Amino acid sequence: MSSHDSILRVGMVGYAFMGAAHSQAWRTVNRVFDLPARVRMALVCGRDEPKVAEAADRLGWDGYTTDWRRLVESDEIDVVDICTPGDSHREIALAALAAGKHVLCEKPLANSVAEAREMTEAAARAQASGVRAMCGFNYRRVPAVALMRQLVADGRIGEIRHVRAVYLQDWIVDPQFPLVWRLQKDRAGSGALGDIGAHIIDLTQYVTGQLITGVSALTETFVRQRPLVAGSSGLAAQADGNGSATGQVTVDDAAVFVARLDGGALATYEATRFATGRKNALRVEINGSRGSVVFDLERLNELEFLDATRPAAEQGFSRILVTEPEHPYLGAWWPPGHIIGYEHSFTHQARDFVEAVATGADPAPSFADALQVQLVLDAVTRSAERAAWTEVEPALAEASA
Ligand SMILES: NC(=O)c1ccc[n+]([C@@H]2O[C@H](COP(=O)([O-])OP(=O)(O)OC[C@H]3O[C@@H](n4cnc5c(N)ncnc54)[C@H](O)[C@@H]3O)[C@@H](O)[C@H]2O)c1
Repeated sequence: MSSHDSILRVGMVGYAFMGAAHSQAWRTVNRVFDLPARVRMALVCGRDEPKVAEAADRLGWDGYTTDWRRLVESDEIDVVDICTPGDSHREIALAALAAGKHVLCEKPLANSVAEAREMTEAAARAQASGVRAMCGFNYRRVPAVALMRQLVADGRIGEIRHVRAVYLQDWIVDPQFPLVWRLQKDRAGSGALGDIGAHIIDLTQYVTGQLITGVSALTETFVRQRPLVAGSSGLAAQADGNGSATGQVTVDDAAVFVARLDGGALATYEATRFATGRKNALRVEINGSRGSVVFDLERLNELEFLDATRPAAEQGFSRILVTEPEHPYLGAWWPPGHIIGYEHSFTHQARDFVEAVATGADPAPSFADALQVQLVLDAVTRSAERAAWTEVEPALAEASA
């Protein structure tokens, strides 16, 4: 697709948290960005008919289905957007790629390295016939994060010595919080590690341009039995009221690890759902030979920058307000100083995906990039089990093509 009249018909599977965030992005992207294709929100899929019908209406989809296979195989769909838990990513993505559909898949790509590898190989095969696949690490698309990457790439930080990354939440501190899908290994793959640790792994590798080569990790599950869930299975779920019925938590509540990056930097990572008082606190600091940069998601319109090449008497962290038209993505939004929020990262993700698909370019992060993150998650899990330094396994040569 290359003309302004091109239409990309999107079908989305799952309509809860990420489904709502992606819907907002698909609704908005052509109204803000001038793109070579227009998005049509054709079909949304969920398993409960009354609920998916309501969601289609509320979120702005033309139609709905209760069978994702129908969506994937439909001639009326060009793009499949996967917003379901990790246990269905592989099956839906493989079917979509086989049907010649472009795929946007939420992170983490899969629940295991084997699944992620299979998906990456399928994406590489489909790419030969012009089919594109991307994984949804949306924080890359926060303008301050993209600016951070630019500063690093331009040498403003110099040689990177330290990467310090945390992603802290507290939504399961209460032992009565129920056993939602995110606490079950067969549904989620891992706990805090794959859910939020995956984000800071991707973000730091993206910003530094360096890959993690080895890790030494600790993981812990602080609360091992939880009430069974009733109703919603999301982050605001409720127990079923029958206090005696419990089930086993089969994932990590927290993961901390140190790592080496292939450019020589030392890195520390902490991903936890037990940081009492911290709701969604993602913070990354990078120290280099010529300066430092700091990003804090709670102040996502800002980037702290220290230029160590300035005279010592004038040095200090400066707060860059990342709202100028010169900053990544922001030329399309509001006048300088008129800030943006969380949801914009998804609109930017949709923008980059649509542009890549419409112009025949490969979007990033690719499935191969997401497989590499999965290999880091796997190394962290193995390191914690063995209490030993653990190398990250290399991806297959064909997978990183
Ligand atoms: N990029 C981010 O910042 C971010 C944030 C949260 C979640 N996620 C990822 O997004 C994915 C979904 O997470 P969520 O928070 O939206 O979960 P959620 O529980 O809020 O929603 C999951 C949705 O998938 C549907 N679903 C589950 N299995 C299905 C199936 N077999 N067929 C059809 N629909 C099915 C559920 O009914 C629900 O609508 C996960 O991979 C998660 O890791 C990413």
